[in-house]
Amino acid sequence: MAIIDGRRISAEITERAKREVEELKKDGIEAGLATVLVGDDPASRLYVKLKGRACDSVGIRSERYEFPGDAKEAEIIKLIDELNSRDSIHGILVQLPLPKPLDSRRIMNEISPDKDVDGFNPVNMGRLLIGSERFIPCTPKGVIRMLEHEGVELDGKNCVIVNHSPVVGKPLAMLLLNRDATVSVCHVKTRDLGKFTREAEILIVAAGVPALIKADMVRKGAVVIDVGISRTKDGIVGDVDFDAVKEKASLITPVPGGVGPMTIAMLLENTVMAAKQQIYTQSV
Ligand code: GUN
Repeated sequence: MAIIDGRRISAEITERAKREVEELKKDGIEAGLATVLVGDDPASRLYVKLKGRACDSVGIRSERYEFPGDAKEAEIIKLIDELNSRDSIHGILVQLPLPKPLDSRRIMNEISPDKDVDGFNPVNMGRLLIGSERFIPCTPKGVIRMLEHEGVELDGKNCVIVNHSPVVGKPLAMLLLNRDATVSVCHVKTRDLGKFTREAEILIVAAGVPALIKADMVRKGAVVIDVGISRTKDGIVGDVDFDAVKEKASLITPVPGGVGPMTIAMLLENTVMAAKQQIYTQSV
């Protein structure tokens, strides 16, 4: 068994993003990300702060916009429209979940597909679906990058995903299909989860249920990627019963220090990619 070190892999990606930001600066361009936080959810506030700090660490200029929890959809859309047309902003990120009754789909759809560093705009989702990948949501992109980094072959592999959200499970299924894996997508309504997970050569879990995946649900030699993050009295834990499952898996990610750090590294990479694409498009 080997543990996949998400911190180390994300540090390499962050270093590369930093070099690319420096290259852009030599051409007189400063990559810029706008983050939008609505309401007072402490977890969302923390994530936005961490994303801003990560930008600082590589030299991306970040601007944070905040709205109260009772903000009107039209006000947020007006800001997004402004950011869409501002040349100094290359990426726009609206932190989810948005407070009720805001319609997050309508708001996310307003972000220009060219500045959609989260990859949640239907245009980028559609590109992913047809195998023409552009901006990929950061968590699934981070999972694929970890597998690639570890040299895990995907072609023909039996992959099982436990999550069917548009943020993780669905984009991940498309990414794996685009790489010729055989994919099963399970979720809370799946009957006999273990029947599926035991077949998995690559098992990716994002259920948010501590210790959901026990050793008897894992095939010997499987690669196990744990996307779950739950706060418990024992600290932050994933969805996998790590100590027992690590004895059976060939490769496994820890929580914390696995997929989590990859997500922010992918945001930096997407922001650099957005800046390069916009600059290139403007100069031709
Ligand atoms: N909330 C949970 N995950 C994400 C993410 O990847 N991006 C945004 N914007 N919000 C989130």
